[in-house]
Amino acid sequence: MTMTDHAIAPPVVPPNEPQPDNIPAGNISADAPAVPATKYGKVVLAPMVRSGQLATRLLSLKYGADIVWGPETIDKSLIGCERVENPKTGCVDYVRTGLIFRACPSREKSKFIFQMGTAAPDTAVAAAKIVAQDVSGIDVNSGCPKPFSTHAGMGAALLKDIPRLLSILTALVENVGLSTPYALPISVKIRLLPTIEETHALVTSLCKTGISKLTLHCRTPPMRPREPAIRDALAGTAKICKEAGVEFFVNGEIKGWDDAQRVIKEYDIDGGAMIAVAAESNPSCFVPNHLGGPKPWREVVTEYMLIAMSVENPISNTKFCILNMVPGKNEIHKVLSRAKTYRELCEALGLECTYPEDLDLGTLKTQRVKAQEEKQAQLQVERAERQKKLADFKRKKTEAEGEEKKEEEGSNKRVKVDVGERSNATTGAAVAELAATDMLLPGGAAEPIQAVV
Ligand SMILES: Cc1cc2nc3c(=O)[nH]c(=O)nc-3n(C[C@H](O)[C@H](O)[C@H](O)COP(=O)(O)O)c2cc1C
Repeated sequence: MTMTDHAIAPPVVPPNEPQPDNIPAGNISADAPAVPATKYGKVVLAPMVRSGQLATRLLSLKYGADIVWGPETIDKSLIGCERVENPKTGCVDYVRTGLIFRACPSREKSKFIFQMGTAAPDTAVAAAKIVAQDVSGIDVNSGCPKPFSTHAGMGAALLKDIPRLLSILTALVENVGLSTPYALPISVKIRLLPTIEETHALVTSLCKTGISKLTLHCRTPPMRPREPAIRDALAGTAKICKEAGVEFFVNGEIKGWDDAQRVIKEYDIDGGAMIAVAAESNPSCFVPNHLGGPKPWREVVTEYMLIAMSVENPISNTKFCILNMVPGKNEIHKVLSRAKTYRELCEALGLECTYPEDLDLGTLKTQRVKAQEEKQAQLQVERAERQKKLADFKRKKTEAEGEEKKEEEGSNKRVKVDVGERSNATTGAAVAELAATDMLLPGGAAEPIQAVV
């Protein structure tokens, strides 16, 4: 079989089922079935760089996600990190020159899986040991097709070097896995290989490493995120995992809780379904229709903001995430995109800002822009002051000259200085000098004298 052997699966959503993508903001699924739906498996948040940071994970858990994956963090970036607890927020920061990743063990640990980007067993194990106390599982990203991952031998590059992938998973299982003092379940997230047979052979090998979970993103590495998922290797993968006792998660084009249950049931999946983009634009997609379904964006964004402020989520990430949730055509989207601080975001959303004022300085970038703006404003003030001083000086000079002239005229009544057409300063000065000399007629008579200039 070849790559083309993966048939593009037709959409399998029942015609009457509300499509979460089509639910307009504000519609709380009026078509939700009255009878509670059966839960066939877990519904979990996918790993997402930027979009899957702490605030999104906590909000997804609030809306019912069973497990949340963190964004891919490169193993080498963790090595050498300092672990810093924040007693005020209850969060834990892994910091090097900057923040590498933030977790909140008191609110997510039992459901939080740390995903790493790695290309070698030793660095993978070292990184896993560093975060072990704050997470409930370690996942290896073996599907990211982006060059920043693949050029270093990580992500989808591991699908082209399967012995290396197997050695990384085996090392993690042996050093931090369930039978070690770290007791962490190890998992892997892969994409489809070019053929169904290759995909199944890979899954069989992966299951033998001792992993506890496996996720299959139902797209091949070159496929674009919006291309329809291919489901033809799904039933076989589900079966292989079930027989090996590995919890299996399907990923790709799952739109919400109800859609997830349908796919889980249809392909007899012993595990669950993983959601990325649908959760990125509305983390309440984890709410089943029989419990009201996805919430309107305003409600979701309000909940997000409350969580983000409570964990002091970096403003740049908060802004990025809420802009994914607010419909682009809404007027408020433009206002939010101009905001630089939590105070400005809250004002636009009509919320009380509880984010600490001393931290609310915006991002480093906005701080730089702000500093430049302040400098410009200061320069303008200084320029205006200088201009005012100059104007004062000129005015005083003119007044003084006027006074002087009056005095001259008073004391030199008898002197008539005829300077003709020439009235330059030299002439004036000369006249003044002349007028002040002995050439004045005795007695102060206003007899004209001729100034020769
Ligand atoms: C913004 C974004 C960031 C992502 N980051 C990661 C990541 O860090 N690790 C990973 O394995 N997959 C990542 N993915 C892929 C998703 O986890 C998921 O496999 C893919 O989007 C398909 O799921 P979906 O159809 O529900 O979107 C990312 C996807 C998006 C949209």
